[in-house]
Amino acid sequence: MQKNGASQNVLFYISTSASLAPPIVEGLGAAGLARNSQGWTRIILEKPFGRDLQGAHELNEIVSRVFDEPSVYRIDHYLGKETVQNIMMFRFGNSMFEPVWNRNYIEYIEITAAETLGVENRAAFYEETGALRDMVANHLLQLLTLTAMEPPVAFDADAVRGHKVEVLRAIPPMSKDVVARHTVRGQYGPGQIDGKPVPGYRQEKGVDPNSRTETYVAVEFHIDNWRWAGVPFYVRAGKRLANQLTEIAVHFKRTPQALFSRSPKDVHHNVITMRIQPNEGISVSFGAKQPGPQMRAIRVDMDFSYRDAFGGETPTAYETLLLDAMRGDATLFTRRDEVEAEWRIITPIEEAWAELPPPQFPNYAAGSEGPEAADGLIQYDRHRWRRLTRNGSDEDQ
Ligand code: BG6
Repeated sequence: MQKNGASQNVLFYISTSASLAPPIVEGLGAAGLARNSQGWTRIILEKPFGRDLQGAHELNEIVSRVFDEPSVYRIDHYLGKETVQNIMMFRFGNSMFEPVWNRNYIEYIEITAAETLGVENRAAFYEETGALRDMVANHLLQLLTLTAMEPPVAFDADAVRGHKVEVLRAIPPMSKDVVARHTVRGQYGPGQIDGKPVPGYRQEKGVDPNSRTETYVAVEFHIDNWRWAGVPFYVRAGKRLANQLTEIAVHFKRTPQALFSRSPKDVHHNVITMRIQPNEGISVSFGAKQPGPQMRAIRVDMDFSYRDAFGGETPTAYETLLLDAMRGDATLFTRRDEVEAEWRIITPIEEAWAELPPPQFPNYAAGSEGPEAADGLIQYDRHRWRRLTRNGSDEDQ
Protein backbone atom coordinates (compact mmCIF):
# COMPACT_ATOMS: atom_id res chain seq x y z
CA MET A 1 0.00 0.00 0.00
CA GLN A 2 1.29 3.47 -0.79
CA LYS A 3 0.21 6.84 0.46
CA ASN A 4 1.56 9.90 -1.30
CA GLY A 5 4.04 7.58 -2.92
CA ALA A 6 5.36 6.38 0.45
CA SER A 7 5.28 2.84 1.79
CA GLN A 8 3.06 2.14 4.80
CA ASN A 9 5.25 -0.69 6.02
CA VAL A 10 6.88 -0.17 9.40
CA LEU A 11 10.07 -1.72 10.78
CA PHE A 12 10.98 -0.93 14.39
CA TYR A 13 14.58 -1.42 15.47
CA ILE A 14 15.22 -1.80 19.19
CA SER A 15 18.81 -1.70 20.38
CA THR A 16 18.83 -0.91 24.09
CA SER A 17 19.97 -2.34 27.39
CA ALA A 18 18.09 -5.45 28.53
CA SER A 19 15.91 -3.58 31.02
CA LEU A 20 14.56 -1.09 28.46
CA ALA A 21 13.39 -3.48 25.74
CA PRO A 22 10.24 -4.73 27.59
CA PRO A 23 8.74 -1.27 28.34
CA ILE A 24 9.48 -0.12 24.79
CA VAL A 25 7.76 -3.14 23.27
CA GLU A 26 4.80 -2.76 25.64
CA GLY A 27 4.63 0.94 24.79
CA LEU A 28 4.49 0.19 21.07
CA GLY A 29 1.62 -2.17 21.72
CA ALA A 30 -0.26 0.26 23.98
CA ALA A 31 0.09 3.02 21.40
CA GLY A 32 -1.42 0.78 18.73
CA LEU A 33 1.78 0.85 16.68
CA ALA A 34 2.30 -2.90 16.50
CA ARG A 35 -0.50 -3.45 13.97
CA ASN A 36 -0.86 -1.76 10.64
CA SER A 37 -3.80 -2.30 8.31
CA GLN A 38 -1.97 -0.61 5.43
CA GLY A 39 1.11 -2.85 5.25
CA TRP A 40 3.37 -4.97 7.40
CA THR A 41 4.80 -4.09 10.82
CA ARG A 42 7.96 -5.84 12.02
CA ILE A 43 10.37 -5.43 14.89
CA ILE A 44 14.10 -6.07 14.99
CA LEU A 45 15.44 -6.78 18.47
CA GLU A 46 19.13 -6.54 19.28
CA LYS A 47 20.68 -8.64 22.00
CA PRO A 48 20.78 -8.98 24.92
CA PHE A 49 17.65 -11.15 24.86
CA GLY A 50 17.58 -11.29 28.64
CA ARG A 51 20.44 -12.31 30.94
CA ASP A 52 19.33 -15.87 31.62
CA LEU A 53 16.67 -18.38 30.69
CA GLN A 54 14.00 -16.81 32.84
CA GLY A 55 14.73 -13.29 31.62
CA ALA A 56 14.70 -14.42 28.01
CA HIS A 57 11.42 -16.23 28.54
CA GLU A 58 9.84 -13.17 30.15
CA LEU A 59 11.01 -10.91 27.34
CA ASN A 60 9.68 -13.36 24.75
CA GLU A 61 6.32 -13.46 26.54
CA ILE A 62 6.05 -9.68 26.45
CA VAL A 63 7.06 -9.52 22.79
CA SER A 64 4.60 -12.26 21.86
CA ARG A 65 1.72 -10.37 23.48
CA VAL A 66 2.43 -7.45 21.16
CA PHE A 67 3.89 -8.94 17.95
CA ASP A 68 3.32 -12.25 16.16
CA GLU A 69 6.48 -14.39 16.11
CA PRO A 70 6.84 -14.12 12.29
CA SER A 71 7.08 -10.32 12.70
CA VAL A 72 9.92 -10.58 15.25
CA TYR A 73 13.51 -10.47 13.98
CA ARG A 74 16.07 -11.13 16.73
CA ILE A 75 19.42 -10.07 15.35
CA ASP A 76 22.63 -11.96 15.90
CA HIS A 77 24.97 -10.09 13.60
CA TYR A 78 27.25 -13.14 13.18
CA LEU A 79 24.52 -14.79 11.09
CA GLY A 80 24.74 -11.95 8.56
CA LYS A 81 28.47 -12.40 7.96
CA GLU A 82 29.15 -13.84 4.51
CA THR A 83 31.59 -16.37 5.95
CA VAL A 84 29.00 -17.57 8.46
CA GLN A 85 26.33 -17.99 5.81
CA ASN A 86 28.92 -19.91 3.84
CA ILE A 87 29.10 -22.62 6.51
CA MET A 88 25.77 -23.96 5.24
CA MET A 89 26.83 -23.50 1.63
CA PHE A 90 30.09 -25.34 2.24
CA ARG A 91 28.40 -28.24 3.97
CA PHE A 92 25.17 -28.60 2.00
CA GLY A 93 26.12 -27.14 -1.39
CA ASN A 94 28.93 -29.65 -1.95
CA SER A 95 28.80 -33.41 -1.91
CA MET A 96 32.31 -34.20 -0.75
CA PHE A 97 32.30 -32.85 2.81
CA GLU A 98 29.00 -33.96 4.28
CA PRO A 99 29.66 -37.74 4.12
CA VAL A 100 32.63 -37.33 6.47
CA TRP A 101 31.05 -34.66 8.65
CA ASN A 102 30.35 -36.83 11.68
CA ARG A 103 31.79 -38.73 14.64
CA ASN A 104 33.15 -41.51 12.41
CA TYR A 105 35.67 -39.18 10.80
CA ILE A 106 35.91 -36.10 12.98
CA GLU A 107 37.95 -36.18 16.18
CA TYR A 108 37.09 -32.75 17.57
CA ILE A 109 36.03 -29.27 16.58
CA GLU A 110 37.41 -25.95 17.80
CA ILE A 111 35.51 -22.68 17.58
CA THR A 112 37.48 -19.55 18.42
CA ALA A 113 36.57 -15.88 18.62
CA ALA A 114 39.66 -14.00 19.72
CA GLU A 115 39.76 -10.22 19.88
CA THR A 116 42.62 -7.84 20.53
CA LEU A 117 40.17 -5.14 21.62
CA GLY A 118 39.47 -4.58 25.30
CA VAL A 119 36.14 -3.36 26.66
CA GLU A 120 36.55 0.01 24.94
CA ASN A 121 33.90 2.40 26.29
CA ARG A 122 31.41 -0.34 27.19
CA ALA A 123 32.53 -1.07 30.75
CA ALA A 124 29.06 -0.62 32.28
CA PHE A 125 27.56 -3.14 29.84
CA TYR A 126 30.47 -5.54 29.99
CA GLU A 127 30.74 -5.62 33.77
CA GLU A 128 27.17 -6.96 33.85
CA THR A 129 27.66 -9.31 30.94
CA GLY A 130 31.06 -11.03 30.68
CA ALA A 131 32.43 -13.10 27.83
CA LEU A 132 30.10 -16.08 28.26
CA ARG A 133 26.93 -14.02 27.86
CA ASP A 134 28.45 -11.55 25.41
CA MET A 135 29.90 -14.02 22.89
CA VAL A 136 29.17 -17.66 23.67
CA ALA A 137 25.45 -17.40 24.50
CA ASN A 138 24.76 -16.12 21.01
CA HIS A 139 27.51 -15.80 18.37
CA LEU A 140 29.52 -18.90 19.23
CA LEU A 141 26.53 -21.13 19.85
CA GLN A 142 25.26 -19.99 16.46
CA LEU A 143 28.55 -21.00 14.83
CA LEU A 144 28.31 -24.32 16.63
CA THR A 145 24.75 -25.01 15.47
CA LEU A 146 25.58 -24.19 11.86
CA THR A 147 28.59 -26.50 12.02
CA ALA A 148 26.65 -29.33 13.65
CA MET A 149 23.10 -29.11 12.25
CA GLU A 150 21.47 -31.70 10.01
CA PRO A 151 20.79 -30.76 6.38
CA PRO A 152 17.52 -28.81 6.22
CA VAL A 153 14.83 -29.92 3.78
CA ALA A 154 14.85 -26.41 2.25
CA PHE A 155 16.74 -23.20 2.79
CA ASP A 156 13.94 -21.41 4.57
CA ALA A 157 13.41 -19.94 8.00
CA ASP A 158 11.43 -22.81 9.49
CA ALA A 159 13.56 -25.66 8.20
CA VAL A 160 16.91 -24.06 9.03
CA ARG A 161 15.96 -22.79 12.45
CA GLY A 162 14.20 -26.02 13.34
CA HIS A 163 17.40 -27.98 12.79
CA LYS A 164 19.51 -25.46 14.68
CA VAL A 165 17.23 -25.78 17.68
CA GLU A 166 17.61 -29.57 17.50
CA VAL A 167 21.38 -29.17 17.96
CA LEU A 168 20.94 -26.92 20.97
CA ARG A 169 18.46 -29.35 22.49
CA ALA A 170 21.05 -32.12 22.19
CA ILE A 171 23.55 -30.24 24.38
CA PRO A 172 22.83 -31.31 27.95
CA PRO A 173 22.77 -28.54 30.57
CA MET A 174 25.89 -28.96 32.71
CA SER A 175 25.89 -29.94 36.37
CA LYS A 176 28.17 -28.02 38.74
CA ASP A 177 30.81 -30.78 38.53
CA VAL A 178 30.81 -30.71 34.75
CA VAL A 179 31.07 -26.92 34.76
CA ALA A 180 34.14 -27.20 37.02
CA ARG A 181 35.79 -29.61 34.55
CA HIS A 182 34.57 -28.28 31.20
CA THR A 183 34.80 -24.51 31.54
CA VAL A 184 37.58 -22.00 32.18
CA ARG A 185 37.18 -18.33 32.96
CA GLY A 186 39.81 -15.69 32.43
CA GLN A 187 40.36 -12.00 32.92
CA TYR A 188 43.18 -10.02 31.33
CA GLY A 189 45.81 -8.19 33.29
CA PRO A 190 48.15 -5.53 31.91
CA GLY A 191 50.16 -6.50 28.85
CA GLN A 192 51.01 -5.48 25.33
CA ILE A 193 48.97 -5.35 22.14
CA ASP A 194 50.88 -4.66 18.91
CA GLY A 195 53.93 -3.78 20.95
CA LYS A 196 52.10 -1.11 22.97
CA PRO A 197 51.37 -1.39 26.69
CA VAL A 198 47.69 -1.69 27.61
CA PRO A 199 46.04 -1.73 31.04
CA GLY A 200 44.46 -4.74 32.68
CA TYR A 201 40.68 -5.12 32.72
CA ARG A 202 40.44 -3.97 36.34
CA GLN A 203 42.25 -0.76 35.42
CA GLU A 204 39.89 0.08 32.54
CA LYS A 205 37.68 3.14 32.97
CA GLY A 206 34.38 2.24 34.62
CA VAL A 207 35.49 -1.23 35.75
CA ASP A 208 35.39 -2.28 39.41
CA PRO A 209 39.03 -2.64 40.60
CA ASN A 210 38.02 -6.00 42.12
CA SER A 211 35.86 -7.06 39.21
CA ARG A 212 35.16 -10.77 38.81
CA THR A 213 33.78 -10.39 35.31
CA GLU A 214 35.35 -12.81 32.86
CA THR A 215 36.86 -11.41 29.66
CA TYR A 216 37.78 -14.89 28.43
CA VAL A 217 35.90 -18.14 28.45
CA ALA A 218 36.62 -21.63 27.17
CA VAL A 219 34.02 -24.39 27.22
CA GLU A 220 33.98 -28.00 26.13
CA PHE A 221 30.53 -28.78 24.78
CA HIS A 222 29.13 -32.16 23.85
CA ILE A 223 26.27 -32.77 21.49
CA ASP A 224 24.49 -35.94 22.48
CA ASN A 225 23.05 -37.05 19.19
CA TRP A 226 23.69 -39.73 16.58
CA ARG A 227 26.03 -37.61 14.49
CA TRP A 228 28.20 -36.10 17.21
CA ALA A 229 28.27 -38.43 20.23
CA GLY A 230 31.82 -38.44 21.63
CA VAL A 231 33.12 -35.47 19.60
CA PRO A 232 34.18 -32.56 21.82
CA PHE A 233 33.40 -29.04 20.62
CA TYR A 234 35.98 -26.74 22.23
CA VAL A 235 34.74 -23.17 22.18
CA ARG A 236 36.69 -20.11 23.34
CA ALA A 237 36.19 -16.37 23.22
CA GLY A 238 38.23 -13.63 24.72
CA LYS A 239 39.27 -10.00 24.67
CA ARG A 240 42.83 -8.64 24.56
CA LEU A 241 44.25 -11.82 23.09
CA ALA A 242 47.33 -12.18 20.91
CA ASN A 243 45.53 -11.63 17.60
CA GLN A 244 42.07 -10.98 16.24
CA LEU A 245 40.70 -14.17 14.80
CA THR A 246 37.38 -15.97 14.48
CA GLU A 247 37.45 -19.44 13.02
CA ILE A 248 36.08 -22.96 13.11
CA ALA A 249 38.66 -25.74 12.88
CA VAL A 250 37.37 -29.23 12.12
CA HIS A 251 39.97 -31.84 13.09
CA PHE A 252 39.72 -35.21 11.41
CA LYS A 253 40.89 -38.51 12.84
CA ARG A 254 44.40 -39.69 12.11
CA THR A 255 45.09 -42.46 9.64
CA PRO A 256 45.07 -45.88 11.34
CA GLN A 257 48.68 -46.57 10.38
CA ALA A 258 51.76 -44.37 10.58
CA LEU A 259 53.11 -45.36 7.16
CA PHE A 260 54.93 -42.12 6.50
CA SER A 261 55.89 -41.01 9.98
CA ARG A 262 58.24 -42.28 12.64
CA SER A 263 55.50 -42.96 15.13
CA PRO A 264 51.71 -42.68 15.35
CA LYS A 265 52.25 -39.49 17.34
CA ASP A 266 53.85 -37.83 14.30
CA VAL A 267 50.94 -38.56 11.97
CA HIS A 268 49.38 -35.32 10.82
CA HIS A 269 45.66 -35.15 10.75
CA ASN A 270 43.49 -33.32 8.25
CA VAL A 271 41.99 -30.05 9.37
CA ILE A 272 39.36 -27.98 7.60
CA THR A 273 39.53 -24.42 8.85
CA MET A 274 36.76 -21.96 8.13
CA ARG A 275 38.20 -18.51 8.71
CA ILE A 276 35.26 -16.31 9.63
CA GLN A 277 37.39 -13.19 10.01
CA PRO A 278 39.81 -11.62 9.21
CA ASN A 279 41.64 -13.13 6.22
CA GLU A 280 38.31 -14.73 5.32
CA GLY A 281 38.54 -18.10 3.66
CA ILE A 282 38.74 -21.85 4.07
CA SER A 283 41.78 -24.08 4.17
CA VAL A 284 42.16 -27.82 4.05
CA SER A 285 45.38 -29.19 5.47
CA PHE A 286 46.78 -32.56 4.49
CA GLY A 287 50.03 -34.47 4.38
CA ALA A 288 52.15 -34.36 1.21
CA LYS A 289 55.34 -36.16 0.38
CA GLN A 290 58.35 -34.04 1.12
CA PRO A 291 60.49 -34.11 -2.04
CA GLY A 292 63.54 -36.26 -1.55
CA PRO A 293 64.64 -39.84 -1.17
CA GLN A 294 62.38 -40.66 1.78
CA MET A 295 58.61 -41.14 1.98
CA ARG A 296 58.14 -38.48 4.59
CA ALA A 297 54.87 -36.57 5.03
CA ILE A 298 54.75 -32.88 5.75
CA ARG A 299 51.66 -30.78 6.26
CA VAL A 300 50.51 -28.50 3.43
CA ASP A 301 47.41 -26.37 2.94
CA MET A 302 44.93 -25.90 0.13
CA ASP A 303 43.54 -22.46 0.56
CA PHE A 304 40.48 -20.54 -0.60
CA SER A 305 40.56 -16.83 0.06
CA TYR A 306 37.54 -14.55 -0.29
CA ARG A 307 39.73 -11.68 -1.37
CA ASP A 308 41.35 -13.66 -4.17
CA ALA A 309 38.11 -15.25 -5.34
CA PHE A 310 35.64 -12.40 -4.99
CA GLY A 311 37.65 -9.21 -4.43
CA GLY A 312 37.63 -7.27 -1.19
CA GLU A 313 34.07 -5.90 -1.00
CA THR A 314 31.37 -8.04 0.57
CA PRO A 315 28.17 -6.75 2.20
CA THR A 316 28.46 -6.11 5.91
CA ALA A 317 26.47 -8.30 8.28
CA TYR A 318 24.05 -5.51 9.12
CA GLU A 319 23.41 -4.63 5.45
CA THR A 320 22.47 -8.24 4.81
CA LEU A 321 20.27 -8.57 7.86
CA LEU A 322 18.41 -5.29 7.52
CA LEU A 323 17.60 -6.12 3.92
CA ASP A 324 16.41 -9.60 4.92
CA ALA A 325 14.14 -8.11 7.59
CA MET A 326 12.65 -5.73 5.01
CA ARG A 327 12.12 -8.61 2.60
CA GLY A 328 10.52 -10.73 5.33
CA ASP A 329 13.15 -13.46 5.33
CA ALA A 330 13.82 -14.59 8.91
CA THR A 331 16.22 -17.45 8.09
CA LEU A 332 19.21 -15.57 9.50
CA PHE A 333 17.43 -14.36 12.63
CA THR A 334 17.10 -16.17 15.93
CA ARG A 335 13.74 -17.74 16.67
CA ARG A 336 12.12 -17.55 20.10
CA ASP A 337 12.72 -21.21 20.99
CA GLU A 338 16.30 -20.92 19.74
CA VAL A 339 17.10 -18.07 22.12
CA GLU A 340 15.60 -19.97 25.02
CA ALA A 341 17.49 -23.13 24.03
CA GLU A 342 20.73 -21.09 24.10
CA TRP A 343 20.01 -19.85 27.60
CA ARG A 344 19.10 -23.36 28.74
CA ILE A 345 22.75 -24.22 28.05
CA ILE A 346 24.35 -21.02 29.35
CA THR A 347 22.37 -20.34 32.53
CA PRO A 348 23.56 -23.47 34.41
CA ILE A 349 27.16 -22.42 33.69
CA GLU A 350 26.57 -18.94 35.11
CA GLU A 351 24.83 -20.46 38.15
CA ALA A 352 27.62 -22.94 38.80
CA TRP A 353 30.27 -20.23 38.44
CA ALA A 354 28.46 -18.20 41.10
CA GLU A 355 28.83 -21.15 43.51
CA LEU A 356 32.31 -22.36 42.59
CA PRO A 357 35.39 -20.74 44.16
CA PRO A 358 36.18 -17.56 42.20
CA PRO A 359 39.22 -17.87 39.94
CA GLN A 360 42.35 -15.87 40.67
CA PHE A 361 41.90 -12.89 38.37
CA PRO A 362 43.71 -11.54 36.41
CA ASN A 363 44.97 -14.83 35.00
CA TYR A 364 46.24 -13.88 31.56
CA ALA A 365 48.27 -11.00 30.25
CA ALA A 366 46.81 -8.76 27.56
CA GLY A 367 48.27 -9.85 24.25
CA SER A 368 48.72 -13.50 25.30
CA GLU A 369 46.98 -16.69 24.20
CA GLY A 370 44.64 -16.62 27.22
CA PRO A 371 44.82 -18.32 30.63
CA GLU A 372 47.04 -21.38 31.00
CA ALA A 373 44.11 -23.15 32.60
CA ALA A 374 42.49 -23.32 29.15
CA ASP A 375 45.10 -25.91 28.15
CA GLY A 376 44.14 -27.97 31.18
CA LEU A 377 40.56 -28.02 29.98
CA ILE A 378 41.57 -30.36 27.18
CA GLN A 379 41.95 -33.85 28.54
CA TYR A 380 42.85 -35.80 25.44
CA ASP A 381 46.55 -36.05 24.49
CA ARG A 382 45.82 -35.58 20.83
CA HIS A 383 43.72 -32.45 21.17
CA ARG A 384 45.04 -28.99 21.64
CA TRP A 385 44.10 -25.37 21.03
CA ARG A 386 45.50 -23.88 17.88
CA ARG A 387 47.76 -20.92 18.36
CA LEU A 388 46.38 -17.48 17.63
CA THR A 389 48.66 -16.32 14.84
CA ARG A 390 48.20 -13.23 12.71
CA ASN A 391 47.07 -15.06 9.56
CA GLY A 392 44.74 -17.47 11.23
CA SER A 393 45.50 -19.88 13.98
CA ASP A 394 47.84 -22.75 13.41
CA GLU A 395 48.82 -26.14 14.69
CA ASP A 396 51.67 -25.67 17.09
CA GLN A 397 53.61 -28.69 15.95
C1 BG6 B 1 29.37 -8.08 20.01
C2 BG6 B 1 29.93 -8.09 21.40
O1 BG6 B 1 28.12 -8.75 19.99
O2 BG6 B 1 30.26 -8.73 19.14
C3 BG6 B 1 31.27 -7.39 21.43
O3 BG6 B 1 29.03 -7.41 22.28
C4 BG6 B 1 32.20 -8.04 20.42
O4 BG6 B 1 31.86 -7.46 22.72
C5 BG6 B 1 31.53 -8.10 19.06
O5 BG6 B 1 33.37 -7.23 20.35
C6 BG6 B 1 32.37 -8.88 18.09
O6 BG6 B 1 31.81 -8.73 16.82
P1 BG6 B 1 32.72 -8.85 15.54
O7 BG6 B 1 31.76 -8.75 14.39
O8 BG6 B 1 33.70 -7.74 15.60
O9 BG6 B 1 33.36 -10.20 15.64
